Amino acid sequence: MPDTLTPVLTDNWGDDRAWTLASYAARGGYSALDKAFAMDPDAIIAAVKDSGLRGRGGAGFPTGMKWGFIPQDNPKPKYLVVNADESEPGTCKDIPLMMASPHTLVEGVIISSYAIRANKAFIYIRGEVLHVIRRVQNAVREAYDAGHLGKNIHGSGYDLDVVVHAGAGAYICGEETALLEGLEGRRGQPRLRPPFPAVAGLYASPTVINNVESIASVPSIIGNGASWFSSMGTEKSKGYGIFSLSGHVKKPGQYEAPLGITLRTLIDLAGGMREGHELKFWTPGGSSTPILTAEHLDVPLDFEGVGAAGSMLGTRALQIFDDTTCVVRAVLRWTEFYKHESCGKCTPCREGTWWLVQTLAALEKGQGSEADLDLLLDQCDNILGRSFCALADGAVSPISSSIQYFRDEYVAHLTHGGCPFDHTASTLFAAEGANA
Ligand SMILES: Cc1cc2nc3c(=O)[nH]c(=O)nc-3n(C[C@H](O)[C@H](O)[C@H](O)COP(=O)(O)O)c2cc1C
Ligand code: SF4
Repeated sequence: MPDTLTPVLTDNWGDDRAWTLASYAARGGYSALDKAFAMDPDAIIAAVKDSGLRGRGGAGFPTGMKWGFIPQDNPKPKYLVVNADESEPGTCKDIPLMMASPHTLVEGVIISSYAIRANKAFIYIRGEVLHVIRRVQNAVREAYDAGHLGKNIHGSGYDLDVVVHAGAGAYICGEETALLEGLEGRRGQPRLRPPFPAVAGLYASPTVINNVESIASVPSIIGNGASWFSSMGTEKSKGYGIFSLSGHVKKPGQYEAPLGITLRTLIDLAGGMREGHELKFWTPGGSSTPILTAEHLDVPLDFEGVGAAGSMLGTRALQIFDDTTCVVRAVLRWTEFYKHESCGKCTPCREGTWWLVQTLAALEKGQGSEADLDLLLDQCDNILGRSFCALADGAVSPISSSIQYFRDEYVAHLTHGGCPFDHTASTLFAAEGANA
């Protein structure tokens, strides 16, 4: 097995009752906090900038730079909000992190809040995952009892309260401004920007919103130093990250590795593809990132490498599909998800995702003609970049990329008069023209 894993966030997941404070403390947990309290808040922001940490929620915005945007001369309270909504199809790293080691997140919340001078932080967790909400609530309670939260933490003079908030269960509430609307008790729909959350976010106050994994990475950066973190990864994509392999590999799971690792290596680490089958297509970062194929096995999985290959690193949710999978069916399923989750605020997305499903569903049944493929691409063109938020851009990604790589398979549905794959046996039916 290649020795390429860098377990940091996942290192303690196998420990006995890893989620308890006792287990976390036995490994030196909360010691980075003391190191942080000995530093000036600006020095922490500088260290996170120097580390090169980029947001792990998908877009890859530099975390330290985001913190630096908080106007410290603004007299309003400052807030830290942790985005733990994790609802993107395929994305499954934040929930295991919070289940296995919630104190890593809590320690990250305290250090990050101290850095931006916030005395109140919120952890916004997707509503459906009640077990995760309870686990994080328990960790927060343990942290209060041990003096890691509340007044005068560790005798530093710094106060912090943390609220664990359960969302109502909507993919759009992962979009940071819709999340803020939800947190304020309103319908979860994105806000017009500017103003950006750093200036007027939660309750119109300066607010930093970061992904769970971004914030959970902070204690290791403060504990080990910025240069330790930046020594991993690639030139512009520093550090390590959790790569979530799901689908047709022998050992699906969470593989923590330096950014820049390739899918070829990760599939090796995951025991290879299912016996007797070949890789057909995969998502680098969840279903809203354009799909890639076997020709991209050696693309470095960092922000630049995946971008140059025509997709996005996103959340490193590597969904692996082998030659038994009908790409049209998989894309239809994803598109139904986006149609369902469209918040309805803007017309191109509200109406457009409905039309995408109609057109795709007909094609999947083998109805229509090849001209409908161009119609589908035209629909995508009318949605991409013309909608209010990135949900709609994500909705068209799997469609346009699958037509780019598997146009023949769409046509095969038309010539076959339906799906050429035998879904009951989950094996490929001898379909002439299907490039599987
Ligand atoms: C439709 C949609 C859903 C999103 N869902 C999430 C999510 O569940 N978790 C997350 O961290 N970011 C999500 N994002 C990205 C956030 O808007 C935001 O960029 C992120 O929380 C910033 O954190 P980071 O800088 O630490 O990555 C989503 C964006 C969109 C458009
Ligand atoms: S793009 Fe979709 S999810 Fe985003 S605001 Fe418009 S309707 Fe809502």
